[in-house]
Amino acid sequence: MKRIICKNYDEVSLLGTDILAKQIKQNPKIKMVLATGSTPVGMYKKLVEMHKKNGLNFSGVRTFNLDEYYPIKKSNDQSYDFFMRDNLFSHINIKPENIHLPNGESADPEKECADYEKMLAQAGGVDIQVLGIGVNGHIGFNEPENELKLATHLTNLTKNTIEVNSRFFKNIKDVPTKALTMGMGTIMKAKSILLLISGENKAPVVKKLFSGVVTTDVPASFLNFHNDVTVILDERAASLL
Ligand code: F6R
Repeated sequence: MKRIICKNYDEVSLLGTDILAKQIKQNPKIKMVLATGSTPVGMYKKLVEMHKKNGLNFSGVRTFNLDEYYPIKKSNDQSYDFFMRDNLFSHINIKPENIHLPNGESADPEKECADYEKMLAQAGGVDIQVLGIGVNGHIGFNEPENELKLATHLTNLTKNTIEVNSRFFKNIKDVPTKALTMGMGTIMKAKSILLLISGENKAPVVKKLFSGVVTTDVPASFLNFHNDVTVILDERAASLL
């Protein structure tokens, strides 16, 4: 895994933006997988700026999101559907038909996951996958467990993830306990992976990521098997390396 250590969060966001913008210019029909959470917010903000000021063109770009809470209404301001519209999609010229997220409103989550996986396969594979990492080592919502799933699936969120994500909700009881997530196999199929990490609370998991050990206790450690991963992290996240 290629590792780039930046001074701070702003530099992580800037570098992530540069990498994505360059790839969009080189391949205007690029297929990207996008993540939510706090980490990519700065990068999405800068991509919006590049669209507005420099005309970065998203008209041919296709996006697929990693995950979504389940069940959740798209209108709920904590849904990832809402997050993506709010932070990126409403501010750029992406075509609505080119935006894909797992549907947290689906009455049949198993079918939704199977359909999502099929749709990704039909799209012919993704070019670049943006990821964040949980303090517990999760990627997407592939939580530390004895076994990891390959394909898109419905999963239970761990107590730790519910607690960590409760910062976005009024009450911890409002945090959904399940999610639809791409599986480890789905993630590993991307041609290239861009993992953004910021903050000292991530330093212990970053140490595990680069420890030379692969374990289902740290799902992100499987990224060590992928041959095109760039990890962009700030000095705080890298402080235990
Ligand atoms: C979000 C996602 C999660 C986050 C992770 C880190 O779509 O898949 O794995 O990337 O929980 O979240 P933040 O960036 O809020 O620390």
